[in-house]
Amino acid sequence: MEIKVAAARPEQMKKKPTDESKLGFGDIFTDHMFLMDYEKGKGWVNPRIEPYRALSLDPAAMVLHYGQEVFEGLKAYRGKDGSIYLFRARDNFIRLNRSSTRLCMPEVDVDFAVEALKKLVLLDKEWVPKSQGTSLYIRPTTIATEPHLGVRPSHTYLFYIIIGPVGAYYKEGLNPVKIYVEDKYIRAAKGGLGEAKTVANYAASLLAAEEAKEKGFTQVLWLDAKERKFVEEVGTMNMFFIIGDEVVTAPLTGSILPGITRDSVIRIVKEWGIKMSERSLSIDEVIDAADKGTLKEAFGTGTAAVISPVGQITYRGRDYVVAGGKMGDLSLKLYNEIVAVQYGEKQDPYGWRMKIG
Ligand SMILES: Cc1ncc(COP(=O)(O)O)c(C=O)c1O
Repeated sequence: MEIKVAAARPEQMKKKPTDESKLGFGDIFTDHMFLMDYEKGKGWVNPRIEPYRALSLDPAAMVLHYGQEVFEGLKAYRGKDGSIYLFRARDNFIRLNRSSTRLCMPEVDVDFAVEALKKLVLLDKEWVPKSQGTSLYIRPTTIATEPHLGVRPSHTYLFYIIIGPVGAYYKEGLNPVKIYVEDKYIRAAKGGLGEAKTVANYAASLLAAEEAKEKGFTQVLWLDAKERKFVEEVGTMNMFFIIGDEVVTAPLTGSILPGITRDSVIRIVKEWGIKMSERSLSIDEVIDAADKGTLKEAFGTGTAAVISPVGQITYRGRDYVVAGGKMGDLSLKLYNEIVAVQYGEKQDPYGWRMKIG
């Protein structure tokens, strides 16, 4: 399929941010977006790049009533020499397709989606910020567009990609966060939507996150829905613990998102010859290790922060300080390794980086 490009006219172009140190997250979008339409029986048609604009949706569009939506989050990085890189972009579209299947939505062709993304990023390449730690955030999304009230999968869909410059996650160094172990609310149950990147999971997480913030915590650590016993993930990150000489993360059993950063960390830890386990880990084991002094480090992993060190865990009214409230050695080493690959500062032995410009 040929991608038609309708470039923005000069009067449609937006003012680019001039001070990259003031870039936040998720508020600024570039001049263009990619779109394509799906119709049952026809498949995906009309791939195009157009000036960024508001969508026009019928108020009965099924996404607005039954939540048929899936999305992704990845980034493009600018190296010191001006090159632009994508990191594991194919994996994000593969995950998008898995989410789509769970929500009875159509898959996209992974190679075509990567081509479309490359074309879009290169058209707006002046928007990829240059300062250290900044990047271009990429949000592919599919929504159900058919105007119909009645619960069944939609017959029509829109797939689009929007992109925008985002600031350095760590402006004042890698500060460890305080997390609250949530034992009242749940995020997702096995057999539900937890492993899909879809709106419902984020809606389910809001109230717990707000209540935790009011108590002074950055995020909540979710426990399994059935027994409120096993550690799952935290906010928009997967969770890792270093207990003794073992690095542990929850297995992918259906209720947590299979993070791309999680997968990268597992691979690197194994390459470095450190014991890496994907296994069920109870909150009691974590607390016990903290009491005994064998809980060496804890950190979250995700596209936004890469590695987010945890300095304190609070469970049932008790605070447990991790790694003396500082960032641990392995957390820092993993952060440096992944960031160096993303920004083209070292060789990529993993085959994760794609130079696009
Ligand atoms: C619920 C949830 N878990 C984990 C992650 C981390 O995934 P990734 O490493 O692919 O960004 C994210 C972010 O996308 C998320 O939203």
